[in-house]
Amino acid sequence: MKPVKVGLLGLGTVGTGVVRIVEGHQPDLLSQSGSPIEIVKVLVKDSSKSRGIHVAADKITENPWDVIENPEIDVVVEVMGGIELSKQLILAALDRGKHVVTANKDLMALHGPEILAKAAEKGCDVLYEASVAGGIPILRTLVEGFSSDRITKIMGIVNGTTNYILTKMSQEGAAYDDVLKEAQQLGYAESDPTSDVEGFDAARKMTILATLGFRANVELSDVSVKGISKVSKEDIAYGKRLGYEVKLLGIAERQDEHISISVQPTMVKHSHPLASVNGVFNAVYVYGEAVGETMFYGPGAGEMPTATSVVADLVAVVRNLNLGINGRRGFVPYKEKKLKTDEQ
Ligand code: NDP
Ligand code: HSE
Repeated sequence: MKPVKVGLLGLGTVGTGVVRIVEGHQPDLLSQSGSPIEIVKVLVKDSSKSRGIHVAADKITENPWDVIENPEIDVVVEVMGGIELSKQLILAALDRGKHVVTANKDLMALHGPEILAKAAEKGCDVLYEASVAGGIPILRTLVEGFSSDRITKIMGIVNGTTNYILTKMSQEGAAYDDVLKEAQQLGYAESDPTSDVEGFDAARKMTILATLGFRANVELSDVSVKGISKVSKEDIAYGKRLGYEVKLLGIAERQDEHISISVQPTMVKHSHPLASVNGVFNAVYVYGEAVGETMFYGPGAGEMPTATSVVADLVAVVRNLNLGINGRRGFVPYKEKKLKTDEQ
């Protein structure tokens, strides 16, 4: 059986997990997708770096065009991060008819519409499940699971790093800077952790969630953002005495043609389920007019949980390839309709 060939852009925390799952779960991937999946090229910045995984030297490259211009590659998996180069490479891959899987929320929150339009023009898939809430399959759930409902509120903890920091500060009285370093060592934080601690990463994720959940054209500038860098141990201890945990909450609400979206540290009552979402775990509440209240919980960052979502997207692309339906079942169910925020 002819394998589907994959080019991997990035072999850091997530890329390493992708290689492990693709190599370790071959029988499952074959039975789910209908084809063997083979990673044939891997882009890194520094090929001399020692890594926790072995990849044959002839597969490694420092030149992104070895992946993008390689005619045998069917699918490009982008897990390198950043915006400009990733965007350029993804658009170039789509121009060449390659399907794309990405974990890049910065890119999809800012340039999702342009990338998805190019994918539609070329009949290609672009899937990005791992971009929000790591191992929780929340994008698929919003698009497919709730296709029959009208979602009016999405609320949750969507950044693992800040939840890890707040949990350790609350439970162990740990110092902010020490726990941030730990989160970086564990591979949870972004390469520039300002994104995490100032709430920008959560804002990007809320943009993606609201776009798909509300089936509208939501922009990053619609989100009001405040991070946790000013939250002190004293604030957390004071909240605890009153029966609250401090959590970085994203809240997106829709009423008719209006939306309001915010990310901010919030006092959550101990009795509320979100108060007991701890460590790197995320949770997303979704309220639908028909279904009522639902909640999705799981690891929000880290190598294997995130790679699970990336490889699930890869399986979906390969399944679509075998069915000949690429470009028709991606996460693009919304019309280009702009909802208004209070400021507009
Ligand atoms: P890492 O920093 O661990 O890995 C990035 C990889 O990309 C490295 O292998 C690096 O090469 C390579 N790379 C980066 N820039 C270039 C470049 N200009 N040219 C060639 N190679 C490059 O990042 P993560 O794995 O943590 O994250 C990857 C993406 O996944 C990001 O978009 C992130 O936001 C997203 N994500 C991450 C999660 C996590 O838990 N870490 C969870 C969900 C999404 P080298 O190894 O040589 O330095
Ligand atoms: N830095 C992100 C987080 C990675 O901590 O949630 C997962 O998107």
